[in-house]
Amino acid sequence: MQHFARFQAAPFPMEMHKVRVIQKLTLLPIKERLAAIVEAGNNTFLLKNRDVFLDMLTDSGTNAMSDRQIAAMSLADDSYAGSETFFRLEASVQDFFGLPFFLPAHQGRACEHILAKVFVKPGNVVPMNFHFTTTRAHIMECGGRVEECFLDEAIRSESDNRFKGNMDLHKLENCITSVGIDNVPFVRVELGTNLIGGQPISLSNLEAVSAICRKHQLLLVIDSSLLSDNLYFMKMFDPLCEDLSIKEINHRISACADIIYFSARKLSSARGGGLVMRDKLLFDKMKVLIPLYEGFLTYGGMSVREMEAMAIGLQETLDFDMIAHGPQFIEAFGNKAKEQNIPVITPFGGLGLHVDARAFLEHIPGEQYPAGALAAAIYIVSGARGMERGTISENRNPDGSEHVASMELVRLALPRRVFTLSQITYMVDRLAWLYENRALIGGLTFVDEPTIMRFFIGRLAPIGDWQTRLVDKFIADFGSDAL
Ligand code: F0G
Repeated sequence: MQHFARFQAAPFPMEMHKVRVIQKLTLLPIKERLAAIVEAGNNTFLLKNRDVFLDMLTDSGTNAMSDRQIAAMSLADDSYAGSETFFRLEASVQDFFGLPFFLPAHQGRACEHILAKVFVKPGNVVPMNFHFTTTRAHIMECGGRVEECFLDEAIRSESDNRFKGNMDLHKLENCITSVGIDNVPFVRVELGTNLIGGQPISLSNLEAVSAICRKHQLLLVIDSSLLSDNLYFMKMFDPLCEDLSIKEINHRISACADIIYFSARKLSSARGGGLVMRDKLLFDKMKVLIPLYEGFLTYGGMSVREMEAMAIGLQETLDFDMIAHGPQFIEAFGNKAKEQNIPVITPFGGLGLHVDARAFLEHIPGEQYPAGALAAAIYIVSGARGMERGTISENRNPDGSEHVASMELVRLALPRRVFTLSQITYMVDRLAWLYENRALIGGLTFVDEPTIMRFFIGRLAPIGDWQTRLVDKFIADFGSDAL
């Protein structure tokens, strides 16, 4: 047997924490899982958590908290205005980001709402490395649109570029000159680019984007919701960061930005959000909308208990063991999946393992939502729920035709510090079975299609009887009482 002196060099991740509180899980029999996904309109968002074995829908609000976070929650100072909790959180945010001004908001999209209301006017264009669903929706609600300036590499499933989230600087310059500076309210960079597989951006690329923005006197807004994974990748693979501490890297990121916003449902393992900035004028512009949409300036729609947890969670994000855990588990998951020839996005990013549904289900056309069909099939055969990140997560074209997404992914999120290697091994086993039987899987069609962000609450039905045939094959292979 091969031995490993340092756990980081080992072909398995190592938890630098132990489990002290557990939640019991149940795994329903496969026929009940089929009934549950039918009742949920083949949309994993609409499953009841009690019917889910491993909840890999998202890392949003589901990361495991530390003992210090839970302890801090009981010290919360509950007051509508001027609570001590707020000042503790504010001090933590200022120290973490190295920026002086902080506005609290109830979650990431609330920050996007404020940003769009303050800065985006009809006809405006917001250049970004890649859109996020809620970001784009808020910009469009204000009459603007998004232009993506991603690397060609970004939407290739297999790659060895460690920083696929980087902005294509030529596309950015071209976008700014073609739409005109006056039509660009700000440039947005998303760290740990969510929709292309949790792919990071390098510090050197971010600094180059910042230089372009300063040259044109444009605001740079950084979405730091997935900062913790991005910090890990910068520390591990960006030569600029080799000799920097996590905090120094973070402050270099902040130095690039005019405004940083984040979902504390992801960053800091709590639930909430906030906007951070260096300039008092920008702070004053946005501050007036917080009491209108969020709550008073000292809570912004958050519970004080969550704010205490957030204050500690941000500080814990400066610990390498904390930020390494997610990406290293995802890498272990990805390596095991690749051994079984399951098509996955590489390099493995943050947030979760991203399965390439287009490659998995080559026989299903984009208009029949391969990623949605695969997410439903994964639930049926494993009891785990992932999330569709493909065509269903897009909007239709203005003429009503389907806009087939550039990437068709199923995300199996690994909320930080939640799952074990045994559970990951189980998932790989189920995915491998499904891959062998992929010809059985068919497409989906909408039966109830909302006009805004249809992926959240839209309902779909299978095209044909493929789901019952999948269940029959599972029972034939594993027995009628097999889970
Ligand atoms: N920006 C990014 C990059 C996100 O991933 C999210 C949320 C938001 C903004 C919005 O933040 O949920 O607190 O309002 N992503 C979640 C996900 C929903 O599952 O990926 P929020």
